Amino acid sequence: MLTVRAPASSANLGSGFDVFGIALGQPADVVRVERAPETTISVTGAGSRYIPEDPDKNTVGAVADALDAPAHIRIDKGVRPSSGLGSSAASAAAAAVALNELYDRGLSREELVPIAAEGEALVSGEAHSDNVAPSILGGFTIVTADGITRIDASLSLVACLPEINVSTRDARKVVPESASMDDIVETVGHAATLAVGMARDDPYLVGRGMDDGIVTPERAALIDGYDDVRDAALEAGATGVTVSGAGPTLLAVCRPEDQRAVAATMLETFDERGIDSRAYQTEVGQGAQLF
Ligand code: HSE
Repeated sequence: MLTVRAPASSANLGSGFDVFGIALGQPADVVRVERAPETTISVTGAGSRYIPEDPDKNTVGAVADALDAPAHIRIDKGVRPSSGLGSSAASAAAAAVALNELYDRGLSREELVPIAAEGEALVSGEAHSDNVAPSILGGFTIVTADGITRIDASLSLVACLPEINVSTRDARKVVPESASMDDIVETVGHAATLAVGMARDDPYLVGRGMDDGIVTPERAALIDGYDDVRDAALEAGATGVTVSGAGPTLLAVCRPEDQRAVAATMLETFDERGIDSRAYQTEVGQGAQLF
């Protein structure tokens, strides 16, 4: 039996739509695998009642198929589904790393990324690697058709998850089909600023670089209270706030000394609107870990 912990991730980071991602220190999924003649899946933990255990309908079943690695797979969800925190990617990433090891497939971490992304496709309808890449590799990742660039980054974060449901499929429907050249130029500038900020562990550059006027406003409109919570977080010292993934989590970047105040004000502001939420005070984290 093998156990792997794979972290939640935040992918997009505003200006890096379908390209940028970071692993979070917490929450995380834990997956246990054991060789078996046929794949079976059981799911416990956060939001587990919404996750199918049928291997043909679960991200992890697709990963087991792709690696030709049938197993009894137990998933303990720390990352709630439909949170914008890469929930299905965390399970797929953990399973890919675990089954590769269990069956001695000898694939590198980079080679496991597209395999885990196939599992993701079952849930989101499209295979994106921007969540599975950081979940497997850790740090800050830049995923393009030409490959993955990864750097370690050290940055304090608050991920505030309200009790609102936004499905990835719905959140993809509001993505504009085109953008003006002015918006594209501005977003490229922000994305470049963000990447330099990650390389320098600079929360001000990262916060500024998260600004995005193309996709984020459309998605923010799906999250009740977004503007108020963002403004309150900025007031409390956050250097930038954006929608995490497809939402509804809001991701704030801050200096370590402001993290508690930012988390508290985000929780309070949702609460004032009658919306329950929880806040993870976290940081850019490591990739999947084998125990
Ligand atoms: N980049 C994706 C999105 C993440 O924002 O839709 C979810 O797969």
